[in-house]
Amino acid sequence: SGIYTAGAYGHRPVVPTSPDRLEAAARAVMTRRAAAYVADGAGDQRTVAANREAFTRHRILPRQLTGTHARDLTTTLLGRDLAAPLLYAPVGALELAVRHRRGARGTPRGAEPELARAAARTGLPVVISSQASVPMEDVADALGGTPRWFQLYWPRSAELTRSLVRRAEAIGADAIVLTTDTSTLGWRTRDLDLGHLPFARGEGLAQYLSDPEFRKLSAARAARPAPSSSVPGPRPTLRALSTLASLRRHRATRAHVDTFLDTFSDPTLTWADLARLRELTDLPVLVKGVQTPDDATAALDHGASGVIVSNHGGRQLDNAIASLDALPAIATAVRARTTPHAPVLFDSGIRTGADAFVALALGADAVLLGRPWVYGLALAGAEGVHAVTRHVLAELDITMALAGAATVGDIGRHNLAGREA
Ligand code: FNR
Repeated sequence: SGIYTAGAYGHRPVVPTSPDRLEAAARAVMTRRAAAYVADGAGDQRTVAANREAFTRHRILPRQLTGTHARDLTTTLLGRDLAAPLLYAPVGALELAVRHRRGARGTPRGAEPELARAAARTGLPVVISSQASVPMEDVADALGGTPRWFQLYWPRSAELTRSLVRRAEAIGADAIVLTTDTSTLGWRTRDLDLGHLPFARGEGLAQYLSDPEFRKLSAARAARPAPSSSVPGPRPTLRALSTLASLRRHRATRAHVDTFLDTFSDPTLTWADLARLRELTDLPVLVKGVQTPDDATAALDHGASGVIVSNHGGRQLDNAIASLDALPAIATAVRARTTPHAPVLFDSGIRTGADAFVALALGADAVLLGRPWVYGLALAGAEGVHAVTRHVLAELDITMALAGAATVGDIGRHNLAGREA
């Protein structure tokens, strides 16, 4: 109601409330490369489009005189009480999304500390990316008591894997999110056409560069005579080559980048390997990237504590099914397999509170917000992330009121057209 009252008295929101205008505004301020990197997906963008289109096929049933004048958005996830069923999705290489803000007053020491400041106000968990732009310890400092999870791309190096998991435990992570849909980077056509694969230029490496095991791998690689990587590495700019020191820096970056590309995600893994991660930590492990009931079942059978239904925002496999279309059957399969049921989280396509409501109605226990918070960050730092979060939650609250759901637990398939029976 605060947002409405402010609006009625002529105050504009910090960032646009409409998702399309939010994206357009953010695209307009970000560098061209950043806009392409954040907004676009794989191939012909068909999965990106499908993720959004799927929401238009589900219609919410308005209900009248239901007495839902007060709503309760709280929920419990992995034993923790949350203010709402919403988390901040892991997003890597965010140096890019804030690059244009460099020099702006009060901004930014790093993208994730801005996110963390917003999350500290909403209390909603942050899933810290393996590809964060600052080390996870710095994100944790900025989070204070706010819940944090750690997202892992499972490296080829067992030592590096162990080290990252230990660090996640040390910063008080509630869970490890194992992202399994990135055994190889997707075919990112816009990035390719702009000659810009962020990681190949050294962005999103902070988590690794701050890791002693990674530095060992990188030093060993630098000592080898010729890099065997088929990836050419970042092209040195003329300015970068103008002094001997920067030439050395360029070589070091190149060694780090090559090491990262070598190790960041082990493509040989199978479900049986999940047991090794299970042995490494007592933290719950959630598998992110699940799009079929079979994979959800396999994840649970191999020790996962829950699944995240996600297709990486359409950035990995083009022409894939919409993530929302994958959700109902997975939610059913997980409920059939586990009592009380293991958490089913959802992302890829959530733009509004109404979207969150539909995902919850189709069986998600909570949803992850991805690109919209990045747009908020790009536009207005922590204030922008906070505003975007408030907008999504305000609309979820209003949607619950108009659909007759007083609590998150009240939301179900009965709220959607065609499922009344
Ligand atoms: C991502 N995503 C992602 N996922 C992950 O597990 N680790 C990561 O480092 C990243 N990095 C990343 C960067 C950018 C720019 C985007 C947009 C996304 C995927 C992310 O967690 C989430 O699954 C998607 O963002 C969901 O799709 P929408 O709702 O943003 O379209």
